[in-house]
Amino acid sequence: MKIIMLGAPGAGKGTQAKMLAEKYGIPHISTGDIFRANIKEGTELGKKAKEYMDKGLLVPDELVVDLVMDRFKADDCKKGYILDGFPRTIPQAEALDKALAAAGEKMDYAINVEVPDENIVNRMSGRRACVGCGATYHIKYNPTKVEGICDVCGKELILRDDDKPETVLNRLKVYHDQTQPLIDYYGKAGIVREVDGTVDMNDVFNAIVDILGE
Ligand code: AP5
Ligand code: MG
Repeated sequence: MKIIMLGAPGAGKGTQAKMLAEKYGIPHISTGDIFRANIKEGTELGKKAKEYMDKGLLVPDELVVDLVMDRFKADDCKKGYILDGFPRTIPQAEALDKALAAAGEKMDYAINVEVPDENIVNRMSGRRACVGCGATYHIKYNPTKVEGICDVCGKELILRDDDKPETVLNRLKVYHDQTQPLIDYYGKAGIVREVDGTVDMNDVFNAIVDILGE
């Protein structure tokens, strides 16, 4: 099964993708997570990506597409995958379609997690990410057992650099300009399914499972 998670920054794509990956036994591929891992390791890709990410801008398509295509070659992608944060522009979606068509494959679903802009800034300022394993929490909606410490690996939690309110507003603008058109793009392909992302995260998950099947 091949799934794309669509939705604004902070809609809960990563939260849901992690739960779905576990349920269906397919990998969760987040381009944002890949970039953040590269930034942490100080790679050339990480240095380039950081310049854009800190401003809330998109990393150029050419840096993203090859990275994802390369990831698809790994053995764990044979049964499918969940894409989170990719594609994010029409050229990225076209590159993905072309690569899939060449392999005689296609995407099965694009799940659009809908959350209005008003809710987003509030959500982001409460998000905390683990410096060790990248697990994501929320101080109010999904708190850790011990404040500031990751439940999974015991490392420290931080606020993401791009979760400052002014950067979040920029990310939202970029989302509406460049990523939202993908809802139409995949709508034409007949694979978009909408879910309400404002309800409890377990209810969002159940709604997605209803669409994908047990
Ligand atoms: P990326 O990491 O993909 O960020 P994003 O799309 O802005 O999305 P987020 O990760 O911020 O939000 P999310 O939807 O995953 O929400 P989450 O589950 O964490 O990208 C970062 C940057 O990298 C981009 O700005 C760009 O520069 C670059 N980049 C990445 N991919 C790219 C690409 N393909 N092309 C070009 N550039 C690229 O949830 C948010 C918070 O809400 C959490 O605290 C969570 O606990 C909480 N929450 C989740 N669900 C609920 C709920 N139902 N109720 C209450 N709280 C909830
Ligand atoms: Mg995410």
